[in-house]
Amino acid sequence: MTAVTTTEQPGSDELTSAFEATIAADQRIEPRDWMPDAYRATLIRQIAQHAHSEIIGMQPEGNWILRAPSLRRKAILLAKVQDEAGHGLYLYAAAETLGVDRAELTEKLITSRQKYSSIFNYPTLSYADIGVIGWLVDGAAICNQVPLCRCSYGPYARAMIRICKEESFHQRQGYELLMTMMSGTPAQRDMVQEATNRWWWPSLMMFGPPDADSPNTQRSMAWGIKRHTNDELRQRFVDMTVPQAAALGVTLPDPDLRWNDERQAHDFGEPDWSEFKAVLGGGGPCNAQRLARRRRAHQDGAWVREAAAAYAAKHGRTS
Ligand code: 3HC
Repeated sequence: MTAVTTTEQPGSDELTSAFEATIAADQRIEPRDWMPDAYRATLIRQIAQHAHSEIIGMQPEGNWILRAPSLRRKAILLAKVQDEAGHGLYLYAAAETLGVDRAELTEKLITSRQKYSSIFNYPTLSYADIGVIGWLVDGAAICNQVPLCRCSYGPYARAMIRICKEESFHQRQGYELLMTMMSGTPAQRDMVQEATNRWWWPSLMMFGPPDADSPNTQRSMAWGIKRHTNDELRQRFVDMTVPQAAALGVTLPDPDLRWNDERQAHDFGEPDWSEFKAVLGGGGPCNAQRLARRRRAHQDGAWVREAAAAYAAKHGRTS
């Protein structure tokens, strides 16, 4: 059964049951299909914040482009940061299929009315951070984003397929950078361990609050937007990362981390949810800096938007 399109206007009960039948059949809802307002609002919220995260996420790594230790490392980092910009644009385009405009979403970001991922409010204090971000942050992103390739909303799922292909390059380049440093001097090995200690817990927080404290998970799962809960994906990330840390030769900073044979999974400690809440509330180490930088970039780019709009008006083009 395909979803009812908006051109056929049966009663609302028929629209709702057709929507629900499409979700139940694990099929895609497309932009021109009827959808409940709450489904649309949830997607706009999640996709917009995902897009904001990609754009803000360029800042911590961009901080090291001019200081990369070799031309090769600079080229790799440039490619990765440019990828993140592209991910943001794919996702703003996906959000716009739901009837919002990226200018409106950007305004909500820079006025703190929409969020971006907590992880990008931490500083990149050494070059090892670039490797650890690729390994842990992009690794966590892969765990979180691969299931989104099966999201019930077509444009989001298709954007994620493209993004996930590039995300695996991001994770591998970071891990390879760390392998190189770990075969270097004791000081380089210490830098990797120190960066791992700083990024481990914030990476676990990327998956969101515990399921018991997540107001959105249950409904997003029922709609096929989320395919797994926050805790399920966090567990998957821990189980994936522990052997990688062992191969790298670093210790993950969690005294409670151990294999649980009965569960066939790792037990691990509880992230500091008060820190998580503080970062979401704007109290992270870099929140103010990240938003100020995004506001400045938006102001600096005003002339480009004005020129494009003037050209479009003169030549009668809408985009
Ligand atoms: N940072 C900031 N806000 C967060 C958060 C985090 N790590 N985790 C949860 N939140 C917010 C949610 O947005 C929600 O607030 P809202 O209702 O005002 O939007 C609130 O905390 C409660 O959380 P829920 O778990 O109920 O919310 P969700 O069901 O939306 O789940 C999520 C949160 C898991 C982040 C989900 O939105 C999601 O999967 N988003 C898509 C992936 C994404 O955005 N990843 C961000 C990182 S981007 C990235 O990794 C790029 C890569 O290149 C590095």
